[in-house]
Amino acid sequence: MNGGFVGVIGAGIMGSGIAQVVAQAQRSVLLVDRSPELVERAIVAIRERLARRVAQDRMTSQEMESTMANIRPATRLDELKGSPLMVEAVYEDPQVKLQLLRELQPFCSKDAIVASNTSAIPISLLSSAVAYPQRFVGMHFFNPVPVMKLVEVIKSISTRDETVEEIVSFSLAIGKTPVVVSDSPGFVSNRLLVPMINEAVFALSEGIASSEDIDTVMKLGANNPMGPLELADLIGLDTCLHVMEALHSGLGEDKYRPAPMLRRMVESGLLGRKTNQGFYEYGNSG
Ligand code: CAA
Repeated sequence: MNGGFVGVIGAGIMGSGIAQVVAQAQRSVLLVDRSPELVERAIVAIRERLARRVAQDRMTSQEMESTMANIRPATRLDELKGSPLMVEAVYEDPQVKLQLLRELQPFCSKDAIVASNTSAIPISLLSSAVAYPQRFVGMHFFNPVPVMKLVEVIKSISTRDETVEEIVSFSLAIGKTPVVVSDSPGFVSNRLLVPMINEAVFALSEGIASSEDIDTVMKLGANNPMGPLELADLIGLDTCLHVMEALHSGLGEDKYRPAPMLRRMVESGLLGRKTNQGFYEYGNSG
């Protein structure tokens, strides 16, 4: 897995961040999305983030250009043929991910590793769609990917130890800190983090405090860098709801029921920063 280009499938916020960190580690990346506009937008966003680093004297223009040269855009899955590692970061919906993984199979050799950047969908469920489940693993990045140091590496019952070891080495090589966890709804991160966000939504809907005050309590009282409602807007309210649904159905406990207000906001299309409105309003640059 040391040579060859890394495939990143899905050019949304997560896919663009993953492509950036891989390219910054001087590995070639093929960034694939069916929508050429999304790929183009992702590449522009990466260039803007790197340009800010150059402006702050934290990267040279040469390093920026060599990083950008490591990223190739693509719109077809067959272009991934020959990649030793493909990371999917498509929309967080089991059917969407299963369908993508099925379509990817003709282009995966038996030695290639396929990793899923899922927030909460069981890796074992997703592995039912791949030809070589022993080479399938969860690789859970955090938003904003260029900043957040963790990669949660999720091992399903079929994932081979060698696959996990290779992903741990790769994560270290791209400057991340991997933590290996077993496959369970929400893994560790979202089993802890998203119920806190959900509880903040209950507190808001019960009129206990305003959004601003709930966030201030957690920023100043628990030293969280962002309050839970600001964080929900950053993650995406749809993703938060999917995580709560996965916890609720997967663990079968009422304490994981999604807050009705969260569901209503998602149904209304208030998804947070990506739609410029969630618990807060954002300008167009969100
Ligand atoms: N995309 C890329 N980079 C970003 C960014 C974004 N959306 N927002 C901020 N940054 C970068 C900035 O460019 C800056 O980078 P440099 O240091 O290289 O210049 C750095 O982050 C710090 O930014 P700021 O000084 O502007 O802002 P800040 O100090 O307030 O930090 C933050 C911003 C890093 C987002 C911080 O508030 C934070 O850590 N928040 C918590 C984020 C978090 O918990 N993420 C996990 C969400 S859970 C998840 O992703 C998993 C899931 O499955 C749901």
